[in-house]
Amino acid sequence: MYYGGDYNPEQWPREVWHEDVTLMRRAGVNLVTVGVFSWARLEPSPGAHDFGWLDEVLDLLHAGGIRVNLATPTASPPPWFPAEARNVTADGVRLAHGSRDTYCVSSPYYRERSRDVAARLADRYGGHPALAMWHVHNEYGSWCHCEHTAAAFRAWLRGRHGTLEALNDAWTTAFWGQHYTAWEQIEPPRTTQYLPNPAHALDFRRFLSDELLGHFREQKKILAPTGAPVTTNFVFGAWVPVNHRDWAREVDLVAIDHYPAADPPSETAFAADLARHWAGGEPWLLMEQAVLTYRGGRMLAKSPGEITRLSLSPVARGSQGAMFFQWRASRGGAELWHGGMVPHAGPDSAVFREVCELGALLSRLRPAGPVRAEAAVLWDAESWWALQAPGLPSSEIDYLDAVRQAHRVLYRHGVTADLAHPSGDLSGYRTVLVPNLYLLSDDDAANLRRYAEGGGTLVVTYLSGVADPYGRVRTGGHPGALRDLLGISVEEFRPLEGPVTLSNGDTASVWSELVRLRGAEAVATYPDGSPAITRNGGAWYVSTRLTDDGYARLLGLPPHPAGLELVRRGDTVFAVNHGDRPCPVPPGHDLLTCTTLDTLPPGGFAVLDSQP
Ligand code: GAL
Repeated sequence: MYYGGDYNPEQWPREVWHEDVTLMRRAGVNLVTVGVFSWARLEPSPGAHDFGWLDEVLDLLHAGGIRVNLATPTASPPPWFPAEARNVTADGVRLAHGSRDTYCVSSPYYRERSRDVAARLADRYGGHPALAMWHVHNEYGSWCHCEHTAAAFRAWLRGRHGTLEALNDAWTTAFWGQHYTAWEQIEPPRTTQYLPNPAHALDFRRFLSDELLGHFREQKKILAPTGAPVTTNFVFGAWVPVNHRDWAREVDLVAIDHYPAADPPSETAFAADLARHWAGGEPWLLMEQAVLTYRGGRMLAKSPGEITRLSLSPVARGSQGAMFFQWRASRGGAELWHGGMVPHAGPDSAVFREVCELGALLSRLRPAGPVRAEAAVLWDAESWWALQAPGLPSSEIDYLDAVRQAHRVLYRHGVTADLAHPSGDLSGYRTVLVPNLYLLSDDDAANLRRYAEGGGTLVVTYLSGVADPYGRVRTGGHPGALRDLLGISVEEFRPLEGPVTLSNGDTASVWSELVRLRGAEAVATYPDGSPAITRNGGAWYVSTRLTDDGYARLLGLPPHPAGLELVRRGDTVFAVNHGDRPCPVPPGHDLLTCTTLDTLPPGGFAVLDSQP
């Protein structure tokens, strides 16, 4: 189990480094991420390098038995970087130095300087005994709309579409006279007069994902010969133009950052299950989390034990440890109030005491078997991107919310779910939930059909299968790609202005449709008697947004103690009680405390050796 966090010794005088190593040892820290934002310290002016301080830090950590996840500093170019290598917003504003992530990934200068600094680090530290892994960059996701980007975008489009004719067709440029007759006419989706072309925007995100990946690959090529695994920390957010599923094939270890907000336990389970999906079921790593929670414009202290519970949950779901941003809370700079494993108050604090307890706990964990999931929820980053376009039939459409709801309903009823891609092997699941899967290729639709016809239960919700991978509507009745499988045809979308009550007593909101039965039966109807929920053998269709309770009733999920998280891995059950009441758990021997138990107290946790 890895345990530790981002360590930024360049923010502190040397005496503190020695105290850091002593405290890391006390806390059981065994891995720290060093150098993420150190470019300006490593190369204070172009071509002039200072590695002395980093040599000292790595030697000190090594002497203390702490391993290093050594970062390349390319997410934060130094102030001497030329303006032409900084990113330009869609409005044409060239970003100024003064924060971080001010780079254009398509700038030849930025690429060249990135390779140079990575090569120097590989050369100097590739054989350092403290080196455990390479942490390329930080949270890839920067956008740019400059001329370098425009040129790279055009080259990428040629590769994807081949001909302008194909591009014009894929983008439906016949609408509003956008037909292109030369590649040079195509620009990044810069600010324009009214609604932009959604296919243009979608392809730009796909391009950015590949373009950023090109930067990662260049560094990986330089670092990999050192023999240490190479990774980067994935950031998850609506603004991130990175398809992590594609990227996961390129990293040696999938690593994610996670900062839950509204409902930390269910959000953490979701993020962890997504990471496990990207990792193809292999171990992954929670690379960053916080000792506090950002919610409603506030930075909230975690309650006693919460740091531990929210670390144990990802471990239960496949993380190879728990890492934080950051080791020591900063005294100044943009994130001085973000908190740290060593807070401003110092080691004589509740946070540091819990940090030490967590380190001790993780050191007692042994590898467990694979996570066992009976259900899957489909996840498709491109459908998420496509449903962020303006001009949709309702501004309340929210892909992430729909997927999270499906996952949360299962989670709250004690069902461990995998996230899966529509092209994935679904045959091992009893139930597959398909929320708002807007873009669907013919092949993926055939995959869902095979699953349902093979005896699986497929629960499809509204807006799934409506468009092809370029966002073009499949005509002839929605959802074009799944109409036959579901035995229905949707004639009209009818977004709701307020909640309505269905014939089964459930409350529906946000969305409704005029559904015609074409072989399916109605399971529940709208107040006007038209079908709201339908069933065609194993293929169910939900044409509206149900409440969590309504969803759970539809899936036939039995009640489950509030706040209790149970994850089975082989003969081991990870049990975490996030709630405020005692919860019954499958009786077993707790590998952490070496006691036998059948109940968890509020806030309690256990790793039970228990028969299925
Ligand atoms: C992450 C980032 C860290 C730090 C952290 C806290 O997204 O990688 O460098 O900024 O958030 O906000």
